[in-house]
Amino acid sequence: MFLMETYKRLPVKFVRGEGVYLYDEKGKRYLDFLSGIAVNSLGYGDPELTEAICRQAKELLHVSNLFENPWQEELARELVKHFWTEGRVFFCNSGAEANEGAIKLARRYFYERGEKRYRLITFYKGFHGRTYGSMSATAQEKIQKGFEPLLEGFDYAELNNFDSVLKALKKETAGIMLEVIQGEGGINEAEAEFLQKVQDLCRKEGLLLIIDEVQTGIGRTGKFYAYRHFGLEPDIITLAKGLGGGVPVGAIVARKEVSEAFKEGSHGSTFGGNALACRAGLVVVKRVEGLLPHIERVGEYFRQKLEELKAGKVKGRGLMLGLELERDCSQIVLRALEEGLVINCTAQRVLRFLPPLVVEEKHVEEAIDILRRVL
Ligand SMILES: Cc1ncc(COP(=O)(O)O)c(C=O)c1O
Repeated sequence: MFLMETYKRLPVKFVRGEGVYLYDEKGKRYLDFLSGIAVNSLGYGDPELTEAICRQAKELLHVSNLFENPWQEELARELVKHFWTEGRVFFCNSGAEANEGAIKLARRYFYERGEKRYRLITFYKGFHGRTYGSMSATAQEKIQKGFEPLLEGFDYAELNNFDSVLKALKKETAGIMLEVIQGEGGINEAEAEFLQKVQDLCRKEGLLLIIDEVQTGIGRTGKFYAYRHFGLEPDIITLAKGLGGGVPVGAIVARKEVSEAFKEGSHGSTFGGNALACRAGLVVVKRVEGLLPHIERVGEYFRQKLEELKAGKVKGRGLMLGLELERDCSQIVLRALEEGLVINCTAQRVLRFLPPLVVEEKHVEEAIDILRRVL
């Protein structure tokens, strides 16, 4: 009643979570295969994460980025450890903010070099967020409509169509930004050969390769960062969602040389990377590191079980999977909810599955039983 009506909410009120299960106010149990849209990496009530958050809340929630923050430094070291080369990190609070910062960093990088390059090539069906920069990077009419004029400087191409990338290329192009699996766009996977060509083009033309790992990052697809499946070497990646395990935190990781374009005062955030967020992130990243083989194994099992349903095309990797149907899937989401399974429908016809990374084979079987009934 007092909220803006920006969300179409499903008719259930969750009041508690435990492991991979959620409970509503009447005590009904639901198996969660959405994780707050790829956020709750360790599920609900994880003892280690809860303990770290409680302890940090007692010690110190927040100071400001005017002061040293040991937790930021430690979390940055972990994120860079999984990057392909020496890197530096900027912390913010969300995916949109991370992408906004990446857009600024790309522009600033060429400014520092004295080159008038500011445009980015992004992809149809991609999703990068709702702020002006990230929304302008999001080549979807339904996201942009009514908010024009957009931020200038974006040229759109089609995923897996290299000719369309060449067509979008201009002398002012600064970089190419993409998701290796488009999440909101319907679990659309970029092909390895296409990605390689994009990277080669970036090298040849001196463009920055920016990979939005907001949904795919932090283990979701079975590698710590999803670009690692393709042997890519991006200049900038952006993170959020799963990084804090439910505590809001986002990050930009950039190759050291690129990161140096941000100087004292170039960019900032009051809350970005505060003690609580980084302490939570630290628990998540360390645990996810050990979970990677588990994610690959359970993801593969889940994929097989989805294939066996023979209900549509199975898409995605690891624990970021989609089932593309021939029909609208919003009713199926409602039916699944009645049966005690939380899933989501994206791009109208794609059932999307993003379970907590700690999900096990027995939970996959439970989800498949429900899906078989509702499909
Ligand atoms: C790939 C990708 N980038 C960016 C965003 C925006 O993140 P946030 O909602 O945290 O601003 C999302 C959110 O769904 C996303 O999936």
